[in-house]
Amino acid sequence: MDNTQYSEKVMEHFLNPHNVGELPDANGIGNVGNPICGDIMRLYIKVQDGRIVDAKFKTFGCGAAIATSSMVTDLVRGKTIDEALQISNKAVAEALGGLPKVKMHCSVLAEEALRAAIEDYRKKQGQ
Ligand code: FES
Ligand code: FES
Repeated sequence: MDNTQYSEKVMEHFLNPHNVGELPDANGIGNVGNPICGDIMRLYIKVQDGRIVDAKFKTFGCGAAIATSSMVTDLVRGKTIDEALQISNKAVAEALGGLPKVKMHCSVLAEEALRAAIEDYRKKQGQ
């Protein structure tokens, strides 16, 4: 993948992101900011019986941030907490058919938001 070209999958998720919005009955919320560019993401998860049954996001950021947010909410659905913690920013980027090199930092936002949401969930459960 060269430095500026977006994959078709990235464009798909950017133009038509999945799971945008708030999740009123979320029991884990992750707020993160990207120190490199200042973009921000909020990720909501709903955990039931140890599994993430729903996820939504709001992202104020670039196309790659939107696409990776969209992809991570797809990827976590149905996963256990432990499985969700295995999802790396690289896995999110790969699921999107790759990201231009200069946009790899955008995928870190998705991974960190997911971790923050899980941490918040655990805190709320008193774990
Ligand atoms: Fe320009 Fe994120 S820094 S869109
Ligand atoms: Fe900031 Fe993409 S440029 S997340």
